[in-house]
Formats: sequence, structure tokens, C-alpha cells
Amino acid sequence: MKVLVTGGAGFIGIHLTKRLLADGHEVFVVDNESNGDPALVPVAAKYSRGDVTKPEEVEPVFAQGFDAVCHIAGQVSIIKAFSDPVADLRTNTEGTVQMLKLCVKHKVPRFLYASSMTLYGNAAKVPTLETEPCVPDAYYGITKLAGERYVQSTGERPDLGFDFSVTSLRMFSVYGPGQSYNNPYQGVLGIFSGNVLRGEPITIFGDGEQTRDFVFVEDIVDGWSRALTAKAAKGEVINLGGGRATSINQLAKAVANAFGKPDYEIRHAPGRAGEQRAVQADIGKAKKLLAWEPKTTFEQGLQRTVAWAREEFAKSAPSAASTGRRA
Ligand SMILES: NC(=O)c1ccc[n+]([C@@H]2O[C@H](COP(=O)([O-])OP(=O)(O)OC[C@H]3O[C@@H](n4cnc5c(N)ncnc54)[C@H](O)[C@@H]3O)[C@@H](O)[C@H]2O)c1
Repeated sequence: MKVLVTGGAGFIGIHLTKRLLADGHEVFVVDNESNGDPALVPVAAKYSRGDVTKPEEVEPVFAQGFDAVCHIAGQVSIIKAFSDPVADLRTNTEGTVQMLKLCVKHKVPRFLYASSMTLYGNAAKVPTLETEPCVPDAYYGITKLAGERYVQSTGERPDLGFDFSVTSLRMFSVYGPGQSYNNPYQGVLGIFSGNVLRGEPITIFGDGEQTRDFVFVEDIVDGWSRALTAKAAKGEVINLGGGRATSINQLAKAVANAFGKPDYEIRHAPGRAGEQRAVQADIGKAKKLLAWEPKTTFEQGLQRTVAWAREEFAKSAPSAASTGRRA
């Protein structure tokens, strides 16, 4: 298949691009480089700089014709969404609508959307099924939910004149090699790793008993790869999570242990707006429709992530890392 990956220079996008190439697809990437690094996009993929909110930048790419679009581009920070809600709305909702419009115009038959566990807000039932009501408190969750509804609703339009099949993949807390450990706005596991690498205390917001469901990035892209071609996925919303709850207190300890520092300093700061309390995916639907389940245990994934982060950190700060002053 000829596949366009938006946001393909970011954390998940790079892993997905690699996976789709390995699957034998022809892959094109667009990214506005706001949080991505085009140098990390595999050379076998064709790359163009472009902003999903600006159709004039992305339409020339669409003009080549695609069998599928994997719409990954997005603003991922809950904190930034509160501080600049209009930018978040533009990227996550308007950007998605623009991609849908281009798919309709160019008759792209398949569309996969990077949805999020944040949509559930504080779900009444945990582990959470896709049928639970979505009542996000975080602004980020609101704009991702609006994006998802545009996607699912467009997939049901009888007036398009062609078969447009869509799937929204509600990803839980994705982690793994390639996730920044220098970005305080995204990925709590990456943030804690960065704290340890730089010799700062790990800071937990709130009491740390809030839970998250961590899922390794290679398992996530395996889910995307299956969803791309699975007939049963068409028109569906599907959770992709690890299926296990880990508290932030447990996570902080696990990260410290993985760095070989079991007594590492952990501090607490006041809780933040939009924080979900209990998060855990019910992944029964992904098992049934995609024959998917995560293969990487949290312990294995954490080891691989920490090994990668150590290596990257050593490359970026060789003198400090080799003397151990910061580690
Ligand atoms: N990381 C997670 O745990 C997680 C969980 C659920 C959903 N998601 C969703 O998955 C997607 C990817 O997340 P990620 O963790 O890889 O984040 P990321 O920031 O590493 O990747 C997002 C990419 O999108 C690009 N981008 C942002 N705005 C753009 C725009 N207007 N036009 C073109 N490109 C743009 C960025 O430059 C970046 O390369 C996002 O849509 C996010 O909402 C992520």
C-alpha cells in the first residue's frame, strides 16, 4: 500500500514509519517539525515538511494519491493545551478536519487516527471499554475527542461517493526508545528518566496513586500495522493499551531501579489540572478485531527504554556521563 504518515518525524510516527516500511508498504511522511526531527525519518520513506492545519502545504503530497493515511500529527501535551488552548484546538481538531477534507477530495480509501485514553476522563469503569462515555476534563482530551468524532462521522457519511473507511486507535501511555527525556511536557516515563540522567529529583504531581496504562511503542505500531489491513477494524474505535495499571509512585520506583538507583530521591508537588485518577485499558476488542495484544512486558520495555536513554545521554553529554557527575 501507499501510505501517508502525518507527524511521522515524531516519537510514534518514526516507529510506525519503520514498521510500515518493514511490512513492505511505500511510506510518505509529512511533519511540521514543531516536535519532530526529520533527520530520524528512515531514508526509505519520502519526507516533506508540511503543516496539517495548512492544506496548501500538504495538498501537493496528497496529489500523489494514497491508499491510506495514518494521521499521527498532533499536539500531545496536556499542560500546553491548558496554556494555549487555541493552538491545541487548531492542531488536534482543525488539523484532523483538514486531513479528512483532503482524503475526501483525493478519495483516499483508508484513514487511521491517533486517538487517546485521555478521552475517557475519569471513567466510571476501569478497566475501560471503548463503549464507556467519553467526558474528558483535560482540554487536550476535548480536542482529541472532537478529532475522533470528525473521523468516525466522516467514515459514516453516505454522500461521499466512495468507500471511506476509518479507525480510531485510542492509545494509552506509549513509551519506548525515541521518546524524549528532555521534554517536560510529554511522556511521564521519559520525564522521570531525564530526571535521573540529569541528577535531578523525580517529581511526582499529586499523591502518585493515580494510575496509567503503559504500552511499549513497538507493540503500538504492531496494532497500527494490523489495523491498516484488518477488515474488522473498519469504522471502529479500538483501545491500544498494556491492559495493566501502574501507579505513578510505582513507576518512579521502577525507573529509579532500572537505573540501578533504588534509593533515588522522589519528591511530590501539588496535583495538576486535567489529571485522570485511574487509567487502565480493556483490550479485549483489539484482541478480537486485530488479533493484537502487547508482547513486551513493562519490565522488558522499561529496560530497553532506559538502555536507550543512557546511550543517548552519554552521546549528548560525554564528559559528564563518563565522570558520573550527573548520573
Ligand atoms: N505518546 C502517547 O502516549 C500518546 C497517547 C495517545 C495518543 N497519542 C497521540 O499520538 C500522536 C503522536 O504522539 P507522539 O507521542 O509521537 O508525539 P510527538 O510530539 O513525538 O509527535 C507528534 C508529531 O506531530 C508533529 N506535528 C505537530 N503539529 C503538527 C502540525 N500542525 N502539522 C504537522 N505535523 C505536526 C510534530 O512535529 C511531531 O513530529 C499525537 O497525535 C498524540 O495525540 C500519543
